[in-house]
Amino acid sequence: MEEVKQYIDYLAMYKLNTFHWHLTDDQGWRIEIKKYPKLTQIGSKRKESMIGVYVDNTFDGKPYGPYFYTQDQIRDVVKYAQDRHITVVPEIEMPGHALAALSAYPELACTKGPFEPATKWGVFDDVFCPKEETFTFLENVLNEVMQLFPSQYIHIGGDECPKTRWKECAHCQELIKKYNLKDEHGLQSYFIQRIEKYVNSKGRKIIGWDEILEGGLAPNAAVMSWTGIKGGVEAAKSGHFAVMTPGAYCYFDHYQGDPATEPNAFGGFTPLDKVYSYQPVPEELNVTQSKYILGVQANLWTEYILDFKQVQYMIFPRMLALSEVAWGTSDAKNYKEFERRVINEFETLDKMSVHYARSIYNINGKVMAADNGIAYELSTSQSPSGVRYTVNGADPSAASPAYTNPIPVQKSMTIKSAYFENRQLKSAISSQDFTVSKTTGKKLRWNSNRMKTILSAEPLHW
Ligand code: ACM
Ligand code: ZN
Repeated sequence: MEEVKQYIDYLAMYKLNTFHWHLTDDQGWRIEIKKYPKLTQIGSKRKESMIGVYVDNTFDGKPYGPYFYTQDQIRDVVKYAQDRHITVVPEIEMPGHALAALSAYPELACTKGPFEPATKWGVFDDVFCPKEETFTFLENVLNEVMQLFPSQYIHIGGDECPKTRWKECAHCQELIKKYNLKDEHGLQSYFIQRIEKYVNSKGRKIIGWDEILEGGLAPNAAVMSWTGIKGGVEAAKSGHFAVMTPGAYCYFDHYQGDPATEPNAFGGFTPLDKVYSYQPVPEELNVTQSKYILGVQANLWTEYILDFKQVQYMIFPRMLALSEVAWGTSDAKNYKEFERRVINEFETLDKMSVHYARSIYNINGKVMAADNGIAYELSTSQSPSGVRYTVNGADPSAASPAYTNPIPVQKSMTIKSAYFENRQLKSAISSQDFTVSKTTGKKLRWNSNRMKTILSAEPLHW
């Protein structure tokens, strides 16, 4: 609770006015629903959690949970946010990302189950089956949710719903025939429109991820554009509101510096300047259509977030860039000036004991051709005189040689470098190994596969 409130304080401090609270997913159901106690009794815990990159398929072996917010706690958070002029928009995922719910109530799936909350992240085939029983369940859940959250919008998810089970399910196929739907995408649209009608009947509106456009958008729905900007453009052009949160600019579960110097993250690479360069109103929209762009959002998915320190690390300083993007004061041309202001702000964050990422101080290394082979060039966006390096594998200190020119590489060596200011280490220590084989006598060649491997070990789903 304290951490959620601190997070809301950060939003207030940097003038962001909406907290999108992703409360349900395959890996856990985190909100108490009085009518369905098994959601939290069963759905709020899992056997273990994934550690390391997805392809390694490794787990920590530690049971997680039960963790969820009681309704009293939720009311407390909503009030806390309200007092700071922040709206909390709750998200209840459907029809996909529902494994935690189906573990508690397997009768809501197309097949019998049993199901278990997921232990890894990703997309799972077992999803809500659009039967009457499911709609009754979801309406009852949404009733309690709408009583807790006074927001105009209720987020109903809608993303990444595989159609595998629906294709094989007699009930689903019957519905497609009965309502003359084109296919399973039509069924997704039917699902969302039905939920929309219900939410509208209570005086609220739905917002959902891009995929709610599949098979036709529900009449009053707003779109949260995440797979890119297409969803937002399509929504705005057809008179629907949209929130822009394209993965390439707005996913704060991505790395923000060289992965070798950062805690394990989902993947991707979204450094501070990339966030700062984002223009949330798509160029292809005219003035009237542009009014449908409600704003911009960043998403901190917690695939690999272990504690609140890591939350801080992932959102700072990128949240500062997002804030300027949201307020329309950012301009990629002025990034250097923004970076200076960010560094000033670090003093405030230090006073608040915020564990922010120092990636903007990091040293970039580049291998270049040189007489007799190759050389390693170091650069930084900060003052070049702050770069110190070693070639013997030791960590550099303020007393190590200052970098001036590309370092010749003629034998095997490890070059370590870091950025110092007033003799204080500011950056992570970058390290690059060079292996020179004496036996081949061939010209030295550079193999940059390591970085490529790390940066591509990700997006299953984009
Ligand atoms: C999403 O990242 N699946 C919305
Ligand atoms: Zn079904």
